[in-house]
Amino acid sequence: MSQPPSGNHHLEQQGADGIAAVVVLAAGQGTRMRSATPKVLHPLGGRSMLGHVLAAAEPLAAGSTLVVVGAGREAVVEHLSAVAPGALPVVQEEQRGSGHAAAQALAAVPDLRGPVLIVNGDAPLLRAATVAGLVADHRASGAVLTVLTAAVDDPTGLGRIVRDGEGAVRAIVEEKDATPDQRAIREVNAGVYIGDAGALRRSLARVDSGNAQGEVYLTDVVGLLVDEGALVQGSLAADPADVLGCNDRRELAARRRVLNDRVLDELMVAGVTVVDPATTWVDVTVSVGADAVLHPGTQLHGTTRVAAGAVVGPDSTLTDCEVGEGASVVRSHCAGAVIGPAATVGPFSYLRPGTRLAQGSKVGAFVETKNVELGPGSKVPHLSYVGDATIGTGSNIGAATVFVNYDGVAKHHTTVGDHVRIGSDTMLVAPITVGDGAYTAAGSVITGDVPPGAMAVARGVQRNVAGWVGRRRPGSAAAQAAAAAGDAGVAPAADTRPGTAEGRPPASGTNLDQ
Ligand code: UD1
Ligand code: MG
Repeated sequence: MSQPPSGNHHLEQQGADGIAAVVVLAAGQGTRMRSATPKVLHPLGGRSMLGHVLAAAEPLAAGSTLVVVGAGREAVVEHLSAVAPGALPVVQEEQRGSGHAAAQALAAVPDLRGPVLIVNGDAPLLRAATVAGLVADHRASGAVLTVLTAAVDDPTGLGRIVRDGEGAVRAIVEEKDATPDQRAIREVNAGVYIGDAGALRRSLARVDSGNAQGEVYLTDVVGLLVDEGALVQGSLAADPADVLGCNDRRELAARRRVLNDRVLDELMVAGVTVVDPATTWVDVTVSVGADAVLHPGTQLHGTTRVAAGAVVGPDSTLTDCEVGEGASVVRSHCAGAVIGPAATVGPFSYLRPGTRLAQGSKVGAFVETKNVELGPGSKVPHLSYVGDATIGTGSNIGAATVFVNYDGVAKHHTTVGDHVRIGSDTMLVAPITVGDGAYTAAGSVITGDVPPGAMAVARGVQRNVAGWVGRRRPGSAAAQAAAAAGDAGVAPAADTRPGTAEGRPPASGTNLDQ
């Protein structure tokens, strides 16, 4: 976003395009949203409404960016400090109309000279190219004020552009103040204006609130300037969708859909396969490489980057993730994870922040990971929790392993070396280190370090109580099956002693050799 203005608001510097300031009007209540959240903060496609407007104006590199705040201003100011720290909030105490808001902004920077872009904060579909077109038209005509307009099928609720017999812009009339003839006009005011700071300041001072809404309309400056003999131009937007405002939740959903369609369209043109655009949602901030495939139900959010040839979905949500070339993510939920080239994730994996999967590694079904470095070719194939761990190269974590990382007070780290075999249902109680090439026996609770090459066994020893089913569950299906298999239902003397183990060596998931 733009650079911070100088501390004393004395701004003479202009941006590369010579635009002195961008003024975003964002103080309105947004009553029709029926929301505790200020309207301009509602998110769509990876940014707030306000964020989209600021992004569209950003390439102008204006000398300063002023955002008029009012309703819910604490939240708006906090949001601004995160997404546009260089922007200067200007407080409009009372929402007396868009003209009053614009005047407040210009009053906050009394030294402002030259062209100023004024834009409504509720225009999330506005694009940089559209703003650039408006600026170019303004320059070419040498007008004092140029208004972005759009030809729409349904102008309901919008300000109409009134032109004279020669086609010159005469005035903007709000719908509530319009005559039936004016209401029939389908060229509307987009709510984006570029004009000379001095001229705007002068004419805004003359705007009153004698209209149907009792508000100070920014749009009234058009008629006032024309009456003075100043040149006011209309610049027709190439795509009327660009200028659609957003006043309620239905419009929010519709704008979100348009935004998403645009993103998917660009991706497909660039060589990404989107199997089902209707159920695929990609933020404007995401990048996807050529020949990647997005299956139905995929959502890519935030700073997510998907490399060429990767496959994501179906039914996967990735937020702030990196997916390497040729990797695959199936039916999974991932946030803040780095998935290396050719790694595989899912189905039904949950990757949490700090997960880093190296090349060719695997996280399989019903596995949760957090703050984990999984080395090249290493695998966590099934039903495991892996938290706060470093795992080397070519190791395998058996099914139902838990990295026991939390003692109720602090988190502890586990280190697993290269080519380790963790037996199924192992509890690795951190902090712990399992050396290179070591094994753990299935079902072990490992509480101490395992040296390289060792087999760690930490579990109860099995005993078989012979004939138990025949004696305790006589006549049951189990007893009949046992009898058919030759069980006489008789206990050998050794088994009647409580707590005595059979002599047979314990069965092992890992070929125990004690
Ligand atoms: C406005 C235009 C209308 C145009 C439409 C495009 C006026 C009078 N009308 O109508 O011609 O077709 O946008 O979407 O401007 N705001 C403030 N302070 C206020 C009042 C409003 O900051 O006191 C801000 C709002 O937050 C909003 C913008 O100004 O971002 C426009 O206000 P809004 O009430 O949405 O005007 P519309 O009726 O949509
Ligand atoms: Mg509006």
